[in-house]
Amino acid sequence: MAIDNQTMLICSLAIKQGRLGAAMHNAAYSNLGVNAIYIPLTTSDIQGSINGIRAMNFRGTTISMPYKQEVMKLLDKIDPIAKRIGAVNTVLNRDGVLIGYNSDWIGVVEALKEVTILKGKRVVLVGAGGAARAAAYGLNKRGCKVTIFNRTAAKAKSIAKEFGLKFGGKPSKIKDSGDYDIIINATSVGFYPNENASAINYSAISSGKIAMDVVITPALTQFLKHAKSKGCKIVFGRRMLLHQALFQVKLFTKRNPPFKIMEKALLVASRK
Ligand code: ATR
Repeated sequence: MAIDNQTMLICSLAIKQGRLGAAMHNAAYSNLGVNAIYIPLTTSDIQGSINGIRAMNFRGTTISMPYKQEVMKLLDKIDPIAKRIGAVNTVLNRDGVLIGYNSDWIGVVEALKEVTILKGKRVVLVGAGGAARAAAYGLNKRGCKVTIFNRTAAKAKSIAKEFGLKFGGKPSKIKDSGDYDIIINATSVGFYPNENASAINYSAISSGKIAMDVVITPALTQFLKHAKSKGCKIVFGRRMLLHQALFQVKLFTKRNPPFKIMEKALLVASRK
C-alpha cells in the first residue's frame, strides 16, 4: 500500500534495533490491507521520542531494551497488568491519550502453550528483570508452580513474595535432580555478542524437560543448545517474540493478526 497522508504510523523505540519486529509488523499490515507502516527507530532519548509520538500523532509504538520501565512515567495511562508486571512493551495512542501495555507475558505463555499444557506444571524460572517479571505473572496466572532463581537472590526473593511464587536462590541452587517440568532462562545472559554465556549451568538442565529462553539473538542460545543435547524440547525466544507481536498488531489495527503471515515473515527475517 502506498504511503500517504492517511498512513498509520507505528514505530519501535530501542537503543539498538533488530529487523525481526519490522518484518512481522509490516507483513501483517500489508496482508490485512491496512495503510500502516512500522518503523524501527534507534533512540537514546526516550522522553524526546515519546514527545515525538504525541506531536506526530503516531498510532503507537513498541518499546524494547532498555526503556520498558522508564517509559511508564511518560505515559497517560498504564494497563493494570503492565502496572503489576512493572514494564511496558507496547504503547497505544488512543485519541491523544498514550496507554501502556505489556504483551511479553502473553508471549511467554503462548510460546509454551505450543508445546505443553501449563496448568499444574512445575517451572524453574531464572531471572529477575522485566522479562522474568512478565513470565512470573503469566505462568502464575496460568496455574504453574513457579520457583524463581536469580544471581542476585534478594531480587528473586522479592518477586517470589510479590507474585506468590517459591523462592529458589541463586541459579547454582537449581537441583540437578530435575524436579521440574519447564526451565526458563529469563535473563539477558547469552544475548549476542556474549552468546557463549549461560545463566543456567549445564548440570541444572535435566533431560527430557521443556527448556525456554527469552533471548532472541541468537535463536539457538548456549542454554538451548545444552538443553537440546539433553533431549529437552526447546522453545525459542523468537516464539515469544511472535506471540507478543500478534497482540500488538491486534491492538494497533483492531483486526485479527495473520498468524501464518507473521510467522513466515519472522522465519524469513531470521534467516537473513
Ligand atoms: P530485562 O528487563 O530485559 O529482563 P534486566 O532488568 O537488565 O533485563 O535484568 C537482567 C537479568 O539478567 C537479571 O535477572 C540479572 O541478574 P541480576 O539481578 O543479578 O543483575 C540477569 N543477569 C545479567 N547478567 C547476568 C550474569 N552475568 N549472570 C547471571 N545473571 C545475569
